Amino acid sequence: MNNNEPVLRIRDLRKTYMQGKIPVHALDGVSFDVNKGELLSIVGPSGSGKSTLLSMIGLLDRPTDGSVFIDDVEITKAKESEAPRIRREKIGFVFQHFNLLSTLTAMENVDIAMRFNGTSKNRRKERAFQLLTKVGLGDRVKHKPSELSGGQQQRVAIARALANEPAILLADEPTGAVDTKTREVIVELLKRLSEKGQTIIVVTHDMDVAQQTDRIITMRDGMIASDTGVAGNEEQGL
Ligand SMILES: Nc1ncnc2c1ncn2[C@@H]1O[C@H](COP(=O)(O)OP(=O)(O)OP(=O)(O)O)[C@@H](O)[C@H]1O
Ligand SMILES: [Mg+2]
Repeated sequence: MNNNEPVLRIRDLRKTYMQGKIPVHALDGVSFDVNKGELLSIVGPSGSGKSTLLSMIGLLDRPTDGSVFIDDVEITKAKESEAPRIRREKIGFVFQHFNLLSTLTAMENVDIAMRFNGTSKNRRKERAFQLLTKVGLGDRVKHKPSELSGGQQQRVAIARALANEPAILLADEPTGAVDTKTREVIVELLKRLSEKGQTIIVVTHDMDVAQQTDRIITMRDGMIASDTGVAGNEEQGL
């Protein structure tokens, strides 16, 4: 699905880290838009700035310069005190190693994402169950992470990331720790969510994953080296 409304706008984003006395331009002027329901992958060599870019979009860190707008709100201008709320309401995170709480069940892992937004306990339970059903785990809700396969754990993590209906789902190497068969299950799930209107950005080293997405941005040295839609109408190699 692609309604042509940018959910995300990134303008001339820069992030410079100091490594000792040497400045490292992790992001060196990155600009692009992402439309609602787009499934975008970001690829590029190690150190090219992919995770830095995700952490700016997810408001985990601040850029040195430039702007990120989500739903027309310039999140890069938000006060530090507002950052947790913006993250909770706008962003869902999925990580390579799932990052589930090991002592909690699948249900509780999803529930906990809604604890701080005023949702009643019953409503949280109901929604956690719906989300786990949506990712195909309706029959595993009482299992703890250690009782689930890698792919199942990642699906719990995706359910958790969707709990607050985020504008954007950000996934850093979501298939990096699972086998090939499981990888396809995760990719199919992401495709299905995107078809239903969820905007998703996936950082991946795996071209088999990237090629299944709507659009591939290739990063190199903190810049966009190419931006290719599957339709092939957006190529802008440097
Ligand atoms: N907190 C930090 N302090 C200093 N330098 C950093 C920091 N985080 C990242 N960098 C540097 O910024 C550059 C981009 O790093 P980043 O983690 O975004 O790369 P990446 O594309 O995600 O790589 P990978 O594929 O290995 O995950 C690298 O040169 C890295 O060393
Ligand atoms: Mg990275």
